[in-house]
Amino acid sequence: MKIGIDKIGFATAQYVLNMDDLANSRSVDPEKFSTGLLLQALSIAPVTDDIVTLGASAAQKILTQADKENIDMVIVATESGIDQSKAAAVYIHQLLGIQPFARSIEMKEACYSATAALDYAKLHIGKNPDSKVLVIASDIAKYGIGTPGESTQGAGSVAMLLTKDPAIMVLHDQSLALTRDIMDFWRPNYSVTPYVNGMYSTKQYLDMLKTSWDEYQKRFNKSLADFAAFCFHIPFPKLALKGFNKILDKQLPEAVKEKLKDNFQHSILYSQQIGNIYTGSLFLGLLSLLENSTSLQEGDQIAMFSYGSGAVAEIFTGTLAKGFKKQLLKGQSRLQELKKRTVLSVTDYEKMFFEEAQIDENGHASFDNYKTGPFALKEILGHQRIYRKVAANGE
Ligand code: HMG
Repeated sequence: MKIGIDKIGFATAQYVLNMDDLANSRSVDPEKFSTGLLLQALSIAPVTDDIVTLGASAAQKILTQADKENIDMVIVATESGIDQSKAAAVYIHQLLGIQPFARSIEMKEACYSATAALDYAKLHIGKNPDSKVLVIASDIAKYGIGTPGESTQGAGSVAMLLTKDPAIMVLHDQSLALTRDIMDFWRPNYSVTPYVNGMYSTKQYLDMLKTSWDEYQKRFNKSLADFAAFCFHIPFPKLALKGFNKILDKQLPEAVKEKLKDNFQHSILYSQQIGNIYTGSLFLGLLSLLENSTSLQEGDQIAMFSYGSGAVAEIFTGTLAKGFKKQLLKGQSRLQELKKRTVLSVTDYEKMFFEEAQIDENGHASFDNYKTGPFALKEILGHQRIYRKVAANGE
């Protein structure tokens, strides 16, 4: 049975910080961010947006009523959990109005877990061919003011509907995972921002890419020439580019190399405007590729490198389905959408991104009315998060 991605949607925050403004404020040469990291802007989420509102918003854009009646599993992959116990997927299941006889869970392993979620979804559909599974990768990447990671923050969600006979991409059975117990990036329960060994993390990312790709090729007798594009986890686009250059086979025919290079550029377009969205970054790269490449054709194979600090990596692959373009937006309209975000000054970004809910002795907190997508965190009442649907006029 062919199983894979039938629909893919995306949502990000309604506010944006331009990298040049951040560079000027931190007395950094703007070229360091634009050329050194290949970043132009970062999405900034207010306190009324979280993994639930962003995830529900990404999914709402793609789901029909018939989908909601057939989804029997909702998986949220995240490392920005809002509760140690209750899964964000349960809130999202309710906000979207998915039929009740469903399993709703959360999965975690830094930026990697959405890849495991896709595999679990695939196994589930293998046993229950009429099921549809909603996989949402949702995160807010926050490193802290003035930290080396500050320039690689971001916020966003990618929602994917997994079905049999999918309209976008059939996922292959062959994949190769790799685990290493390392401390490159981690966030203990008592900290709202991660601890990061930045340079070490980039070395591990590149080494785990090389190790897993070498083993994948050996085990499955594949090479780069089998693929029309290679998508990477994108903590910042320059590191993905380094990864791409590391595996680029210099023996490949020039035309194949050029196509792969061209498609790599298409895959980083959205991340350059949004920053790191952790679990969703690889899939934002895939979406960017699919919506912007003009050379991709049905039947083309795509390779993907998933990486989550700590660390787990995986190489997995898929084949583009017949008519896949019909399921997707045009790249230009997605980029136009991103231009509608409200530009923040650095002072306003510092206030907004790091605002914490002020919970009183009764477990209540209320919030200013920031711009969000179709869902917002309204208040906290008796330690319970209360979400609301936002009307089209933002009320
Ligand atoms: P930094 O201080 O920006 O490092 O920190 P840098 O001094 O190496 O500068 C970056 C690049 O800018 C370099 O390019 C410089 O040469 C260049 P490169 O040499 O590497 O090609 N540069 C300039 N270019 C033009 N004009 C200039 C100029 N100045 C410098 N004037 C660091 C970089 C990655 C350490 C930092 O951003 C960080 O800590 N980020 C967070 C951690 C991270 O993203 N790690 C990536 C791998 S781990 C991962 O992917 C997992 C993750 O997503 C989390 C998860 O799994 O949950 C993070």
